[in-house]
Amino acid sequence: MSGALVGRTAVVTGASSGIGAATARELTRAGAAVVLGARRMDRLEALAAELGGSGAAVAIAATDMRREADVVGLFALARERFGGVDVLVNAAGLGKRAPLGSAPTELWREMLEVNVLGLAIATREAIRDMERRGAAGHIVHVSSMAAHRIPSPDAAMYAATKFAVRALTEGLRQELRARQSAIRVSAVSPGHVETEFAEVFAGRPEARTETYGRFKVLEAGDIAAAILWVVTRPPYAEVHDVLVRPTAQRN
Ligand SMILES: NC(=O)c1ccc[n+]([C@@H]2O[C@H](COP(=O)([O-])OP(=O)(O)OC[C@H]3O[C@@H](n4cnc5c(N)ncnc54)[C@H](OP(=O)(O)O)[C@@H]3O)[C@@H](O)[C@H]2O)c1
Repeated sequence: MSGALVGRTAVVTGASSGIGAATARELTRAGAAVVLGARRMDRLEALAAELGGSGAAVAIAATDMRREADVVGLFALARERFGGVDVLVNAAGLGKRAPLGSAPTELWREMLEVNVLGLAIATREAIRDMERRGAAGHIVHVSSMAAHRIPSPDAAMYAATKFAVRALTEGLRQELRARQSAIRVSAVSPGHVETEFAEVFAGRPEARTETYGRFKVLEAGDIAAAILWVVTRPPYAEVHDVLVRPTAQRN
């Protein structure tokens, strides 16, 4: 195995689908060992078989980002199998159509727990592990263009979670710099990417074609390539946020 990430270990959350799965492929192509988490084990097993077939070192664990013990366990697995984590990609996340005047609390709670709290817990666990080993690690948050403006009237709570991710990116950067840490933090903020996101957001399978069929949207691999670029900059360069829209996207 050759590549910029040989000898490094990456934990990828949300690896069963979309951007997380594409990132797992991209990072293993660059030589990283990967530890993959998501709830759907059948998807993780298929991906691990695919990546393992190409010679990659892969470990998987059923991980519900709403369960702290699962998230902590993902990093224990990284330590047991590969000695620790060098790169964390926080790709687990979801949006739900959930108007502020009428949506059930549970929809808001799920977005907040996965997109914000789960991401913060995973980040803390990664930092603990990196600091314990003195590793100059890298945390990447898969944020959104919804961290930069409200995309639609029914997506305010989703946008609120991504505005929070933007705050957590800059807040962590300040915290790390205050103690002169070599750990870096970056965000990648996509516009429309063809994944399962639209179907989950609307709760209808047809939403996929409705959302992604209007014009050529980004592919998950485009965001994975941006993530690889972010984590392979020299140690003195900390990419803050990469905003990527499909060329034809208007808002
Ligand atoms: N697609 C877009 O247009 C777009 C645009 C901007 C930002 N994003 C962001 O990109 C990230 C990845 O989304 P995607 O587009 O790749 O969508 P996706 O195909 O639906 O993938 C979402 C991933 O998150 C995981 N996930 C959801 N809830 C979880 C939970 N409770 N515990 C653990 N994992 C959970 C899913 O795994 P399981 O269901 O197997 O647990 C899946 O692997 C999200 O943060 C999303 O906000 C997407």
